Amino acid sequence: AANRIAEIFDSPIDIADGPVSQAPRGGRLELRDVGFKFPDEGARARPGGPDNWALRHVNVVVEPGQTLALVGATGSGKSVLAALFSRLYDVTEGQILIDGRDIRELSLPVLRQAVATAFEDPTLFSMSVAENLRLG
Ligand SMILES: Nc1ncnc2c1ncn2[C@@H]1O[C@H](COP(=O)(O)OP(=O)(O)O)[C@@H](O)[C@H]1O
Ligand SMILES: [Mg+2]
Repeated sequence: AANRIAEIFDSPIDIADGPVSQAPRGGRLELRDVGFKFPDEGARARPGGPDNWALRHVNVVVEPGQTLALVGATGSGKSVLAALFSRLYDVTEGQILIDGRDIRELSLPVLRQAVATAFEDPTLFSMSVAENLRLG
C-alpha cells in the first residue's frame, strides 16, 4: 500500500508555476475557445472512446460582479470546467484569462488566492466544529 502512496508522491507535476506574482484586481473572467480532453493514458472509459473532448469551443466572458450559473446534464463537463479555473487541469486548447492575463502566466499561489471553490460535499474530520473550522 505504501508503494502506491510513493507512486503518487513521485509522479511528475505537470502544472507549471507562472512568473507573475501580482494579484489580479478586477476579476474579469474570459474563456477563449477553451477545449479540454483527458490524456489517453489512464483515461476513464467514456462512450465514444478516450479521444472525445470533454469540452470544446467554450467562449464566455464574466464581468466583475456578474454571476454565471452553469447548467447541464451529468457528464456534460461542468466540474471539468470548474477545475480549469484553479488549474487542477490545464486547457488542451484555447485560453482562460483573468483581467486579460492568461492564468498560466500567474504564479499558482496568486491564482489560487483569486479562485475559490466550494465543493458539493462538505468534508468534516472527527474533531470539534471549532477545530474543523480552524483547519482552513
Ligand atoms: N478523471 C477523468 N478522466 C477521464 N474522464 C473524465 C474524468 N473526470 C470526468 N471525466 C469525463 O469528462 C466528462 C465531463 O465530466 P464532468 O465535468 O464531471 O461532468 P459534470 O460535472 O457536468 O457532471 C464526462 O464524460 C466524464 O466521464
Ligand atoms: Mg460535476
